[in-house]
Amino acid sequence: MSNLQQTLSIIKPDAVERNLVEEIKNEFKKDGFEIKNEKKIKLAKSDAEQFYKVHETKPFYKDLCEYLSSGPIIVMILEKDNAIAANRELMGATDPKNAKEGTIRKKYGISIDKNSVHGSDSIENAKIEIDFFFKS
Ligand code: CMP
Repeated sequence: MSNLQQTLSIIKPDAVERNLVEEIKNEFKKDGFEIKNEKKIKLAKSDAEQFYKVHETKPFYKDLCEYLSSGPIIVMILEKDNAIAANRELMGATDPKNAKEGTIRKKYGISIDKNSVHGSDSIENAKIEIDFFFKS
């Protein structure tokens, strides 16, 4: 049975800066994702703080928000069967040095912070994150 889902994907500043946007978008397309909507934006630090609010209490929160707002990013709505889990599989582990061969973070990530992509981690967060960027 099909289980079509949408998930929110971000191509982070480190990847945009290195001109990897088309290459990373192709990784999603090759894996069967449809890009339903996308835009290039630069977040204010306060937007990043809001977006990553679930990590508010973590020691890395401040650096994380500074980083996500440090340069342009691409935000996309990706659609596919079981998109949330499929995207997490394709991205690989949060820390590129633990990510499996062939995953986006293994191929392009630089460090746990500069790990090139973000993807929603649950159905609930996918809805929240898609609304955050695309609700008019
Ligand atoms: P992301 O999937 O965007 O979600 C939160 C981000 O915090 C994560 O990717 C990492 O880039 C970053 N981060 C920095 N330090 C850590 C850590 N120790 N554990 C998890 N995420 C971290």
